[in-house]
Amino acid sequence: MLRGGKVGLRARHEEDIPVLRAELYDDVVNSSRAEGGPWRPISPGSKDPRLVMDEQNERVVPFSVVELDGGTLVGTAALWGIDPHNRCAHIGLGLLPSARGKGYGTDVVAALCHYGFVVRSLHRLQIETLADNTAMLRSAESNGFVREGVLRSSAWVMGEFLDEVLLGLLVEDWKPAARS
Ligand SMILES: CC(C)(COP(=O)(O)OP(=O)(O)OC[C@H]1O[C@@H](n2cnc3c(N)ncnc32)[C@H](O)[C@@H]1OP(=O)(O)O)[C@@H](O)C(=O)NCCC(=O)NCCS
Repeated sequence: MLRGGKVGLRARHEEDIPVLRAELYDDVVNSSRAEGGPWRPISPGSKDPRLVMDEQNERVVPFSVVELDGGTLVGTAALWGIDPHNRCAHIGLGLLPSARGKGYGTDVVAALCHYGFVVRSLHRLQIETLADNTAMLRSAESNGFVREGVLRSSAWVMGEFLDEVLLGLLVEDWKPAARS
């Protein structure tokens, strides 16, 4: 398990799937804002890659996020679009509604940076998020990500085009948080 200050990132367990489906992916507004595509319902037993790990796909590493104190599932996180030639990847995360606003998002980004830079020897990590997603922007910037640009009207979200912000962090600019 990857350990942050408050949360850990571990493999997806079978029992995580119904919780993530019900509390995260069945939420039309949250999914539409976070997924970069149209919401579609996920059936029980589905092998949707957001829920079920595809071990053949080396470009994505999904994690379940749990509280270090007690092990309660609080969300999902992933390194995706891993490009071993250019040594870069994207970061994605989503917390259950009850787990938001407690510092976990900032902690998850720190753990994903550790995984990307230290475990995978990547050189650059990238995040794209909606321009009004203050919690995601702050979680990224607290870990050293800088805004590299605005993708104007790049995301169709629930009836309107919204801007996205592109943030990047290079390994030489990364200041690792103290780890437990
Ligand atoms: C985005 C998300 C991962 C952030 O995680 P979080 O645990 O809620 O964020 P944190 O508690 O670590 O807070 C980070 C910062 O954002 C601020 N913040 C938190 N919630 C906020 C809100 N609703 N509005 C404005 N600011 C907020 C915090 O005060 C903190 O600011 P600081 O660094 O200046 O102290 C989480 O809210 C989430 O899963 N949201 C829904 C899915 C999503 O948007 N995923 C990202 C898609 S790119």
